[in-house]
Order: sequence, then C-alpha cells, then structure tokens
Amino acid sequence: MVGPLARRRLLLQAAAIAGGALVPQAWTPALAQARLGEDPFQLGVASGDPTADGVVLWTRLAPRPLSPDGGMAPAPAAVDWVIAEDEALTRVAARGQTLAVAEAGHSVHVEVSGLRPDRVYFYRFYAGGHASPTGRTRTAPLAGADVARLRIAYGSCQKYEAGYYPAYAHMVADAPDLVLFLGDYIYEGDATDKGVRRHPGPEPMDLAGYRVRYGAYKSDPQLQAAHAAAPWMVIWDDHEVENDYGGDQSQDDVDPALFLRRRAAAYQAYYEHMPLRRAALPVGPQMQLYRALTWGRLAEIQLLDDRQHRPHRTCQAQANGKLIPDCDERRDPTRSLLGPEQEAWLMERLASTQGHWNLLAQQTLMGEGVIPGPLWSNDGWDGYPATRNRILEQWRRAQVSNPVVLGGDIHTFVAGDLKLDPEGPVIASEFVGGSISSLGRSNAAMALLQSANPHLKFGDGEVRGYGLVDLTRETCAVRFRAVESALVPQSPIRNLAAFVVEDGERGLKPA
Ligand SMILES: [Fe+2]
Repeated sequence: MVGPLARRRLLLQAAAIAGGALVPQAWTPALAQARLGEDPFQLGVASGDPTADGVVLWTRLAPRPLSPDGGMAPAPAAVDWVIAEDEALTRVAARGQTLAVAEAGHSVHVEVSGLRPDRVYFYRFYAGGHASPTGRTRTAPLAGADVARLRIAYGSCQKYEAGYYPAYAHMVADAPDLVLFLGDYIYEGDATDKGVRRHPGPEPMDLAGYRVRYGAYKSDPQLQAAHAAAPWMVIWDDHEVENDYGGDQSQDDVDPALFLRRRAAAYQAYYEHMPLRRAALPVGPQMQLYRALTWGRLAEIQLLDDRQHRPHRTCQAQANGKLIPDCDERRDPTRSLLGPEQEAWLMERLASTQGHWNLLAQQTLMGEGVIPGPLWSNDGWDGYPATRNRILEQWRRAQVSNPVVLGGDIHTFVAGDLKLDPEGPVIASEFVGGSISSLGRSNAAMALLQSANPHLKFGDGEVRGYGLVDLTRETCAVRFRAVESALVPQSPIRNLAAFVVEDGERGLKPA
C-alpha cells in the first residue's frame, strides 16, 4: 500500500521526470490545508548565506501582508520547494517539503545542501495551489578554489517613506554574484505624511507590529526582484529595532529589561523575513548574526553585528544629543563595540583568513569623523575607538591580505582610508555605500566633516544608490552607483565616483 506521503513523492518524481513545471496538486491528509484563495507569495522569495554546497531559500506565506498574521490561519501549512540548474526547473538538483508555522510567521528557511560549488541555481516554492516567483541564486566556490572574479553589490538604509527603490532595478541589471545588505532594512518610525509613501500604522513595539512593517517593505516589487536575482547576506543596524539603540539600551532610556522584550520581538521579525540560517534563529532577545563567508581563495567577508553586543553609550552625561566631547570612558579599552565574544571571533578570523581580499562588512562609517569642537558621535565607532584600533592593529600584526571595509548607516557615500594615527601609514580603505532611499546629510555638512578628517577622501550625501565592488586578484574596484531620483520608482543611474585599491598596496585611488 502506497501511503499518501510516498504517493506524493512519486507524483513529484513523475513530474520531474516528465520535465514539466512542478506544481503539486495532491496534498497529504495530515497536512491538508484549506486551499489559499489569495496568492500566499506576495512577499516574494529570497536566498542567502551561500556555501560551496548549499544556500538558504526563503519565503513567507502572507496572502495579506499588512495583517499581523499575514492572512494565514494559525495551523501549519505545507510548502514544497525545488531547486534546479535551469530556469525552467527541469534539471532538478534537490527538492523537498517543509512546514510554515505560525510561530515563525509562516516563514520558511530551507537550508539546501549537496549542491555543486560555484554554480547558478533557480528555485521556487509551492503552497496551497500557488507557485511562487522563480528565484535565481548561486553557491560559493570551494574554499581552496582559484577564483578569477567576484562582483558584490552592497546597500543599506531603505526608508520606505523617503523614497522608492529604483536603485534595486539597476542593481539587478548589474548582475552581482552576491548582495550585501548592511542595515536599516526597515525603519521603525510612525507613519508620517512627509514622504512619497506611508508606513503602515504606528511605530511597532511588538512582533505583530514588526511583521506588518516588514509586510509593507517586502511588498515592494523592486526589492523583491533584487532578492530574487542573487543570494543576499544581511546584517542589521539600529532601525530594525529602534533608532540609535545599543545592547539593552533604548534611545529613550526605557528600563533595559522591558526594552529587551521589544528587541526580542524585532529580532524575531527580522529572522522571519531574512534568508538566514537556522543558526540565527533568535533565543529570546539574543540572535547570532555575525559570521563570515569564504569565496574561494579570492575573498573572505567578515560580517559584523555592532548593535547587539555593545555596552551603553559613552559620556552620556556630557552628550548634546549623541555628540560628545572627549572623556576618559570613550577611550576605555575594556569597552568593545562588538562585545568580547564577537571581537575575539573577529581577531581569530583575521589571524587565520586565507582570503586574498578581506572585506569587513559592517553597519556604519568606521573611520574617525570628528567635528570641530572637538565632538564625536557616541553611536558609532567613534564612541568605541579602542575597538577600532584593535582591528587596525590586528590587520597589521596578522598581515591580513588586502583589508577593505564596507559600510552603511549614514546615508552618505564616503570613501576613505583608515589609519592608526593621522601621520602614520594607511592600513585599510573603506567605502560607505550611500543609501537606497533614506535622506542623507547635505554636501555642505559633508565638506565640513571632510575638512576636519582628511582621511575621508570623498563624500556625497545628496544622492541615493548603492556600491558595486569588482574583485580580481589584482584590484578591488568600487563604483558608487547613484540614481537620479529615488522619489520615483524608475530613475536612471550614473557612476557618481569610482575607486580602486590595488593588490598589496594600501590606500584607495580614484579610478
Ligand atoms: Fe539608516
């Protein structure tokens, strides 16, 4: 007697052998769902965290994305998935079935393994009689492989009210192997009338609220297309929880124990909406986000979480907003922006990396940004300069090959060099990639900042866009890609500036 599960498998195999589109019609009684009348795939598909033999496939069933439950009944729902070597999904590499459960907002995170290294794949999900869009992804090369090139697009800061996402249409056309998203995927602020579109509802404070917020952001078709075009590796900044939060400290000085409840809800919603591995599944208010990616011998990317593990803001008593004069606490070497465990992990990675290029993907501007006073922001690296110095020292001491920093957060394109002391040698270069839509500082303010910080070689806060990095053995070429206007969904793009870092040399040059 062929049981329903076995029969279903046979049907799937038959469909695959027949080479037809794989839309399962038979459902097992144990998992029977009311067929979904509305398309459950309105938030699109995504993939992420590639390895040499696999990748994470993501979707979330949400026929009504702006409902806290996504429009799903509380019961589990069966989701079939397939990954293939061709876009028509005929040369199937793997397939399976997973359950989307209410506890995870009916999101699914399929960790596919057994794929071939350094290859493009296509994937699709099926549920309730509907098929998702087809996504395109790829695996990483084998760790020891000689890899000629890698193209990375990196972006951050996509405030929904501030603009549309024409940047993503161009990012897709640029055909990156990998997309890095460096934080501020959502903004938590209340709905306002100030932008081109409105946040749904009030500031999220609980899981239901954050789910609705992601439902709005992820409904954007250009964002969905970018997720469907390449694997992403994501890290967060502050707005995925609350502006300028750090550790258990809210910007509003809420009781830390209470703020951690909000952080837990925000982290859970983040996990539910990102193509992350199970290792990142939050446990209460804790979530493992920092990690590294190896791309053959060509590159290693270390991705940092500088929000969750940091101690409280420094010199707060002297602060005017978040700008502070110098104080002993700011220079306290025991204060780590990364927290002791993550910092130890990073030091270990930097000591052992085999990457020809070592990209440090993190949230914000890493170089010093002192403003006349002198004053520093206590929200970023300038609030924790000992951590920055230890990383620079480790790059030098461990003779890390070709370190380059990528950042976001400040809604401004910045290119600069990093030094331990102003008169000393350049140790690394950094490229902060503007913002997808969030409004930045004026170029007059940027010019003032650059005049006090000559290591910041380029700055433009008045345009929106992303960074494009082309790595070969010889060069790390970075282009700042700027859209004409993010106030409209379709907008032309231009190269705002282009730089190159050459193998074995320190310091960026105009390209
Ligand atoms: Fe931002």
